[in-house]
Amino acid sequence: MSGHYEVVDWYQLPRYYDIAFASRNRREVDFLQALYERYALQGGAILEPACGSGRLMEGLLRRGHEVHGFDLGEAMVEYARKRLDARNMGGTLWVGDMSAFRGRKRYAMAHCLVSSFKYLLTEKAALSHLQCVADSLRKGGVYVLGFHLSDYDDQRDDSEEHGGRRGQAAVECRIDSGPPNRKTRLESIRARLRVNLPTRTLASETTWQFRTYDEKQFLKLLAKVPSLAHVATHNFSYRADEEIEFGEEDLDSVVILRKH
Ligand SMILES: C[S@@+](CC[C@H](N)C(=O)[O-])C[C@H]1O[C@@H](n2cnc3c(N)ncnc32)[C@H](O)[C@@H]1O
Repeated sequence: MSGHYEVVDWYQLPRYYDIAFASRNRREVDFLQALYERYALQGGAILEPACGSGRLMEGLLRRGHEVHGFDLGEAMVEYARKRLDARNMGGTLWVGDMSAFRGRKRYAMAHCLVSSFKYLLTEKAALSHLQCVADSLRKGGVYVLGFHLSDYDDQRDDSEEHGGRRGQAAVECRIDSGPPNRKTRLESIRARLRVNLPTRTLASETTWQFRTYDEKQFLKLLAKVPSLAHVATHNFSYRADEEIEFGEEDLDSVVILRKH
């Protein structure tokens, strides 16, 4: 993608974010549903910290679940609320920070995919997040946490592309990541959105930093929350019946943390 990009936070454009990621919805909702059944979470409500546009909340509501979600971005929450209201679906939404939150009830499942957890830039914030999740889960409940692990020996840039079309809007999205810094525990990310509309083209560029984790760093953090046990790992193929070893074998990790 080339051309002129405006510095507009892409989360201020929830509709276009939503279109760019929509092709993943079915696979991710199927995966969450399969885990819900696998861990026998019958009837319990589901929480999504950093719920964004509500794309997964809608999918899980359609499967008959009670769903709660919150996000720091007001535009995202407003979009998610309108989408659920428009379909008369219920669902509970609020603006909140995933480093310090209280659930509205005890949940059977919480989930946070696509590395959103890495927005928490300090150990303190990440630990507080995991503690809040643990406090919000009922006994036996699971947290499904998806994020890309770092290999500090690999200093190459990385990128991924997403996209989709809805109505008159065609959206292309490219996300570039810089190499992980072993010392600062940060990596630089840039998201570019290009939206082709019949009469104009919109372009936005957003940059931010993610906290980085290798396997040991994540397990060290998790050990500080004894009520959450790491019971399984999957990868971004989102197959509930396929587990992988956590670590360098596959950096795209979805860890299942069970409250006991
Ligand atoms: C990549 S989006 C993921 C949204 C959604 N979970 C999904 O799968 O589409 C990341 C989201 O994290 C939110 N976010 C970033 N920092 C946050 C924080 N500290 N607390 C809550 N939400 C946060 C952003 O506003 C954004 O909506």
